Amino acid sequence: MSTYTITCEQLKLSPKTWLITGVAGFIGSNLLETLLKLNQQVVGLDNFSTGFQSNLDQVKELVGEDCWQNFTFIEGDIRELADCQKAVKDVDFVLHQAALGSVPRSLADPIITHQSNLNGYLNMLVAARDEGVKRFVYAASSSTYGDHPALPKQEDHIGKPLSPYAVTKYVNELYANVFGDAYGTQSIGLRYFNVFGKRQDPKGAYAAVIPLWIGQLMSGTGCKINGDGETSRDFCFIDNTVQANILAATTNNVEAVNQVYNVAVGERTSLNELFAMIRDQLGGMNPDIKTLEAEYTDFRKGDVRHSQADISKIKDLLGYEPTHTMSQGLQETTQWFFESLSSN
Ligand SMILES: NC(=O)c1ccc[n+]([C@@H]2O[C@H](COP(=O)([O-])OP(=O)(O)OC[C@H]3O[C@@H](n4cnc5c(N)ncnc54)[C@H](O)[C@@H]3O)[C@@H](O)[C@H]2O)c1
Repeated sequence: MSTYTITCEQLKLSPKTWLITGVAGFIGSNLLETLLKLNQQVVGLDNFSTGFQSNLDQVKELVGEDCWQNFTFIEGDIRELADCQKAVKDVDFVLHQAALGSVPRSLADPIITHQSNLNGYLNMLVAARDEGVKRFVYAASSSTYGDHPALPKQEDHIGKPLSPYAVTKYVNELYANVFGDAYGTQSIGLRYFNVFGKRQDPKGAYAAVIPLWIGQLMSGTGCKINGDGETSRDFCFIDNTVQANILAATTNNVEAVNQVYNVAVGERTSLNELFAMIRDQLGGMNPDIKTLEAEYTDFRKGDVRHSQADISKIKDLLGYEPTHTMSQGLQETTQWFFESLSSN
C-alpha cells in the first residue's frame, strides 16, 4: 500500500481539523473535496477575488450533505490579520493556497500581487504561529527556479526570479525558514509545477493554458501559442497536488519538515505537444475540433523557457507517488471540461 493510501485510511479513523485558504479557487476546492470525502473537519477562507461560489457549490454536490456539515466557510481576506486569526482558530493543519497567481498579472500590477502573496502570507504565518498549528503547508512555485538553466530542477539550485510573482513565492520560502528557526513553526513549501484539472478557471486574461485552450477549442475561438511552441512544462494533474498537500501536512518524518519540495510528475511537454494532445482528446468527443489550428504569437515576458522537476526529494522524504501521468490527467480533465462546458 502507498504512503498516501495509508495516510488517508488513518485520517478517516482519526479526523483532523484543516484550514484551506483560497478554498473557492481551483486547487483549494479540490483539496476541500478530498478532505471532506475523508471525513475531515475543514475551515475555508476566501475573498472570491479569483475563486468562485460555484466551485464550493459543486463540491457540496459531490460530497453530499453529511460531509458538507463538516465544512465552515469564512468569507475574508488574508490581507486582514483578524480574518487569518479567526480562520486558524483550533485548526491542526493549514493548507495555505490563497494568493494571486499568474506571472503576467504580477508584471501588470506588482503591488496587488505583493499585497496578497506577501502581506497576506505573512499574516497567515503569524496567525498560524500564534495558534500553534501542527503544520503550515503553503503553495510555493516552480517560478522560484527563475533563470537557472539546469534541468531537471532540483530544490537547492535556484536562479534569479523573472517576475514579481516569482519574488513573492521565493520570499514565502524565506519567511517560512525564518519562522522555523526563530519560533519553531513547522512548515512545508510545495513548489507546484503547472497544476491542471477540474474547476481550473478557463476564462479571463490570466487563465492557465490548459483550461484556456480547452475552452477556446470547444467554443471555436482561436488558440494562441506563445513563441515557437517549444517552451515546455512539467504539467501536474491536480490529484497529485492534493496528495502532496496531505502528505506534507501529516508526515511524522522530522527530516521532512521545514523543507521545500517540487510537486510535479517529472515529465516535460512542449506547448506544441500539449496543443496536439488537447485537440486529439477533444476531437474524439467532437470531430469538428480535430482540424482546428493554433496561431503563433510573441514569446511571453517573464516566462521560463523549460521547466521539468526532479521529484526524488518528495518521493524519498514524503513518500509521494504521482497517481496520474500528464496524459492520464489530461484525459480526465478534457472529459470533465467537455461535459461541464457542454452543459452550460
Ligand atoms: N495553478 C498552478 O499551476 C499553480 C502553480 C504554482 C503555484 N500555484 C499557487 O497555488 C495556489 C492556488 O492556485 P490556484 O491555481 O488554485 O489559483 P486560484 O486563483 O484558482 O485560487 C486562489 C484562491 O485564493 C483566493 N484569494 C486570492 N487572494 C486572496 C486574499 N487576499 N484573501 C483571501 N483569498 C484570496 C482567490 O479568491 C482564489 O479562490 C496559489 O498560491 C498559486 O500561486 C498555483
